[in-house]
Amino acid sequence: MESEAMTSAGDPQPALTEATTLELGVLESSIPQALPGTETAGAGQLGVTGRPLPEFPVPAPLSTHGPARIIAMCNQKGGVGKTTTAINLGAALAEYGRKVLLVDFDPQGALSVGFGVPTHELDVTIYNLLVERGHDVRDVIKHTRTEGLDIIPANIDLSAAEVQLVGEVAREQILARVLRPVLDDYDVVLIDCQPSLGLLTVNALTAAHGVVIPLECEFFAMRGVALLVETIEKITDRLNPRLQVDGILPTMYDGRTLHSREVVASVVEHFGEQVFHTVISRTVKFPDATLAAEPITTYAATHSGANAYRQLARELIARGDAA
Ligand SMILES: Nc1ncnc2c1ncn2[C@@H]1O[C@H](COP(=O)(O)OP(=O)(O)OP(=O)(O)O)[C@@H](O)[C@H]1O
Ligand SMILES: [Mg+2]
Repeated sequence: MESEAMTSAGDPQPALTEATTLELGVLESSIPQALPGTETAGAGQLGVTGRPLPEFPVPAPLSTHGPARIIAMCNQKGGVGKTTTAINLGAALAEYGRKVLLVDFDPQGALSVGFGVPTHELDVTIYNLLVERGHDVRDVIKHTRTEGLDIIPANIDLSAAEVQLVGEVAREQILARVLRPVLDDYDVVLIDCQPSLGLLTVNALTAAHGVVIPLECEFFAMRGVALLVETIEKITDRLNPRLQVDGILPTMYDGRTLHSREVVASVVEHFGEQVFHTVISRTVKFPDATLAAEPITTYAATHSGANAYRQLARELIARGDAA
């Protein structure tokens, strides 16, 4: 059943190891104290990441659109906020007048479900675009209720693609080819990857200009990031020299716990300026918005969680990583 697949848990929790404790071995003094709220801190104040928070101005409207910059939401660890980030970053960019295409690239179809797309009723999805010739990508794109925000949906069919594509010529470049005809119609394309580093994710990274790595603020957060970075480097070397890490996004942050603060401090210590200044707090509004099949930016428009994703959109644009 598709619904079962969609609710299946992510990766099992790994056991605590010495390496993990070492990874997180940060000095107490390096942990920012008295942390302000993620999105209420003004420019110049210390942000949640312990660095002065730069100003991220409201971006000027665009008079023309495209060509799109493609950004993959990627982390092979399950349940870290990839889909939530794709939905809400996409919606926030659309609020700023950007034309955004979301690509559901996970057979669980969570991104599609997050917009109320009845995934089991779809005749054509990203799967058909990948494995069959003769489809027009525009026939598969759906508009969402958010102006300027479109989606290419997926469902469980996509789980077969990984095996079917293995024998294809240029099997890593198939998604890039699928997206090419519509790149001039959009400013940003966000790809929601599945929690694995298999061929589908390699396709996403080969199509992308940038990668956003959501990282849950919990003890095992950085496990596996080295492998992900290694994979990104291999793809940069062999398949896609333009690929860059746009940023690491701490998610599910709880400022009341020393634990969350330690994780953020440790991530900043390891990855420095690659870590976004924007940090996404843990709030039940995100799962609530998913249940309502809406981005948080409309479900709870004034909530701090909505503002956090607006700030992320502005940060990406200010960094030059989105139009
Ligand atoms: N900041 C947050 N605060 C609270 N809950 C969150 C937050 N971000 C995401 N969630 C919830 O955590 C769960 C996992 O998030 P999400 O589906 O975005 O992760 P994912 O990385 O896409 O997972 P998967 O690897 O399974 O695709 C979802 O139920 C989502 O609603
Ligand atoms: Mg997901």
